[in-house]
Amino acid sequence: MRKNRRSRIKIKAKKAAISSMPKEEIKKELKISAIDDGTVIDHIPTDGIFKVAEILSLKNQKGIVSIATNLQSKSIGKKGIIKVGGKSLTQSEVNKIAIVAPDATVNIIKNYEVKEKIKVKTPDIIENVVKCFNPVCITNNEQVATKFYVVRKDPIKIKCHYCEREMGKDDIEII
Ligand code: CTP
Ligand code: ZN
Repeated sequence: MRKNRRSRIKIKAKKAAISSMPKEEIKKELKISAIDDGTVIDHIPTDGIFKVAEILSLKNQKGIVSIATNLQSKSIGKKGIIKVGGKSLTQSEVNKIAIVAPDATVNIIKNYEVKEKIKVKTPDIIENVVKCFNPVCITNNEQVATKFYVVRKDPIKIKCHYCEREMGKDDIEII
């Protein structure tokens, strides 16, 4: 009986807070909130969102991490966005993101403002970042660093320097 009353009170309070907001604000609130300091990776294709999460080792982050996907985007149809509080990216992380999210924008946020906006750039040659899909490739059997030529940037297609195997975005596994 007592337990019941308490939970009813809780629900009431929540309802009151939402209904006091103007409609416009509720819409914004349901999206993903702004961060005060850190990095926002925007315009990620929906099928690249968890690859980017892996590149950034998000499961080990201590600060606030927000991931949203299947959001409407004017430029790429549907997109994903990742916000990582308190983290700045290394050049190596940005280079890796460019492979799985060729249209991504990396925004550096300081004090709630976008201090820098970097459009990622897919390189022409990818070295020691992607695993070759071919099990008999020398890079999977000896201590040889992988090397790929980018045949097409978006959607990405790469070709192994050693075995000449071509790989598309679904075959790409970041080392
Ligand atoms: N952002 C955030 N926290 C802030 C400031 C910005 O999370 N304090 C996010 C915004 O929600 C947006 C991204 O960072 O997803 C880039 O912000 P901004 O440049 O203001 O947005 P747009 O002009 O829409 O960016 P673009 O032109 O790259 O699409
Ligand atoms: Zn190979």
